[in-house]
Amino acid sequence: MDKYAKAFVKASLIYFGIGAITGVCMVLWPDTRFTVARVHTHINLLGFMAMMVYGVGYHILPRFMGRPVYSHRLGNIQVWLANITLIGLSISWIFEATRGGFWHTLVILFGIGQGVSIFLFIINLWKSMHPVKSSE
Ligand code: HEM
Ligand code: HEM
Repeated sequence: MDKYAKAFVKASLIYFGIGAITGVCMVLWPDTRFTVARVHTHINLLGFMAMMVYGVGYHILPRFMGRPVYSHRLGNIQVWLANITLIGLSISWIFEATRGGFWHTLVILFGIGQGVSIFLFIINLWKSMHPVKSSE
C-alpha cells in the first residue's frame, strides 16, 4: 500500500474517534452544539468518510484498471493539504462561532484549501482510470 494511501486510512480512523467524541460531548452537554456541531459533521464526513474513501480508493481503484495511480506526487500533496486544512477549518470554525472576524477569514482560506484537496483527488483518480497504453 502506498504511504499516502495508508496515511489517509490512519487519519480517517483518528477522525472517526474524534467524530465519536464530539458527538458524545454534544449529547452530554447540549450547549456545546453551537460551537461543535459543524466540526462534528465535517470531521465525520470530510475526515472519516472521505479520507477512508481516498485511502481505499487510491489503493484499489487503479488496480482494477491494471495500472498505477496517475500521480503519486499529487497523492502525497493531497494527504498533507487535506489534513492541514481540515484541522485548520475545524479549529477556525470553533473560534469563528464565538469571535468571528479573523477566524472567519481563516475558515474561508482553509475551506478553499479543503476544496482544492478534493479536486486533487478527483483529477488524480479520474486520470488513473485511463488504461495504460500497451506497447504491443
Ligand atoms: C458516537 C457517535 C455519534 C454521536 C453521539 C453523534 C451525535 C450527534 C449529534 C448530537 C448531532 C446533532 C448536532 C446538532 O445539534 O446539530 C449530530 C449531527 C450530525 N452527525 Fe453525528 N454523532 C455520532 C456519529 C456520527 C457519524 C459516525 C457521522 C457520519 C459518518 C455523523 C454525522 C453527523 C452529521 C452529518 C450531523 C449533522 C446533521 C444535520 O445537521 O442535520 N455523526 N451528531
Ligand atoms: C470544501 C469542503 C467543505 C466546506 C468548506 C464546507 C462548508 C460547509 C458550511 C459552511 C456549511 C454550513 C453550516 C451551517 O449552515 O451552519 C456546511 C454544511 C454541511 N456540510 Fe459541508 N463543507 C464542505 C464539504 C462537505 C462534504 C464533502 C460533505 C459531505 C460528504 C459536507 C456535508 C455537510 C453537511 C451534511 C452539512 C449540513 C450540516 C451542518 O450544518 O453541520 N460538507 N458545510
